[in-house]
Amino acid sequence: MLHNEMVDEYLPETVRAALIRGQSLLDIHNPGKERTLHCRAVARLAVAMALALSDAGAGIDVELVAESAVVHDIAKGKPNHAASGAALLRSLGRSDLAHIVADHVDFTSFTGPITEAEIVCLADKLVASDEYVGLEKRFSQKLARFGDTPEAREAVAGRRDRAEIALSRFENAAAMRIDSLVTRTAIHGDRFHEFVLVSTR
Ligand SMILES: [Fe+2]
Repeated sequence: MLHNEMVDEYLPETVRAALIRGQSLLDIHNPGKERTLHCRAVARLAVAMALALSDAGAGIDVELVAESAVVHDIAKGKPNHAASGAALLRSLGRSDLAHIVADHVDFTSFTGPITEAEIVCLADKLVASDEYVGLEKRFSQKLARFGDTPEAREAVAGRRDRAEIALSRFENAAAMRIDSLVTRTAIHGDRFHEFVLVSTR
């Protein structure tokens, strides 16, 4: 349980290595500071969630979550950035990451146990920029930004409803409320940067 309370110090070496591999992939595409910090914050939360699930006995590949979360927005700014990012990763021989990146914008299904793709997608919905904000704030920001038409508002509401289902699935599987996970785990991008640096020394 210690590694959920102090994720920097107790992060398994294999997970640190996966985060660094993801960062190296992201760096090739010169993502800029803002996007890098967002990707790191999402990865940090996703890793904390995956570790909590793992502690609770769920069969989750924490390294896969870590690496794919870091690269989830590798093609941000391109049309259909999720599909573009997936294609880019496949061209680099990383189909293992590609399917998670392809599915990070919305949830595709809720059958069976919670998946690595679901964790990355949910972590992305809980973070705005490089800060944990929770679903309510994140989706009210989305409505304010994109809710110009009834169709757009309906699309945002649909994504919010699915994110709430995913959050319940996480909390049930981890036997933990997301709030208690977050208060025990620093999510900010700069701190993520610190533990990546520490692990490369
Ligand atoms: Fe994205």
